[in-house]
Amino acid sequence: MTSIHFHSPDGTVRVVEGRDGQTVMEVATANGISEIEADCGGACACATCHVVVEEGLADRLPAPSVLEKDMLDFVAEPTPTSRLSCQLRIEPSLDGLILHLPSRQT
Ligand code: FES
Repeated sequence: MTSIHFHSPDGTVRVVEGRDGQTVMEVATANGISEIEADCGGACACATCHVVVEEGLADRLPAPSVLEKDMLDFVAEPTPTSRLSCQLRIEPSLDGLILHLPSRQT
């Protein structure tokens, strides 16, 4: 299992465990991380699964696809380390990844 740390704007930290192959969005929604709305169910078509990767950890993730980059234009508060959690697959190298949840998705 791989631990993913979700930091909310109010300072709350929730640590959830994911299996290889799951997406970060799937792990978040299955564990009640309600800030991840995921309206399109992971089709990379809504941008309501936005997360901000902790600075210094973004290099642990594969680069975003062209489609993900295009959809990131629609997030409410984009940052240089913004990602769509439905496009991030759990793998052991992500253990301990810190993701910040935006104050709003749209
Ligand atoms: Fe819709 Fe990620 S769940 S873009």
